[in-house]
Amino acid sequence: MARQSKGVTVVDHPLVQHKLTLMRKKDTSTKSFRQLLKEIGALLCYEVTRDLPLEMIEIETPLTTMQAPQLVGKKLVFAPILRSGMGMLDGMLDLAPAARVAHVGLYRDPATLACVEYYFKAPADLADRLVVVIDPMLATGNTAIAAVDRLMEAGAREIRLACLLASPEGLSKFQGHHPNVRVWTAAVDEQLNDHGYILPGLGDAGDRMYGTR
Ligand code: URA
Repeated sequence: MARQSKGVTVVDHPLVQHKLTLMRKKDTSTKSFRQLLKEIGALLCYEVTRDLPLEMIEIETPLTTMQAPQLVGKKLVFAPILRSGMGMLDGMLDLAPAARVAHVGLYRDPATLACVEYYFKAPADLADRLVVVIDPMLATGNTAIAAVDRLMEAGAREIRLACLLASPEGLSKFQGHHPNVRVWTAAVDEQLNDHGYILPGLGDAGDRMYGTR
């Protein structure tokens, strides 16, 4: 189940919404938060890949031959933005185990909220692959914009963005910079606060999944 408008798909499947509510609660444990983020990663992957092309091939079942669909076209690369993007990666890899992974290390300077790159490692054939950037919290949009810029610089041509939560401000800034990158998210929240956090949100996703605060 998903609602689409102007390049944004809100995945409003009841399982996703229920798991997101659990994640928002401040008393949810680190262990549960990490498990839920992984599970939502898998459910979002299901929607992000919904339109992948298929071709019919002939196969033999134990009883007869038949025409059956198989995936065709560009292979996948998942590109988690460190650290919190790692939380959705394993769920996505459960569904698409042959996908490659590009790690994008970016952090937000707490004073300026600008992005600083500290690590980047991607497959060499990005141009021939469909790249799914994983950024659980699309807050100011700066990190996701910088990640897409960097992946394009490294050759990526077809890119999608999977997030858990988006702010209206971050979404519109991201789409202003990258109008051709479609976005999937479990929810679009109300606003950003003065520190660049999403409200009502769920706090700092990296800290909550690794128990670092
Ligand atoms: N990053 C987070 O982890 N949470 C927010 O609310 C914003 C950015």
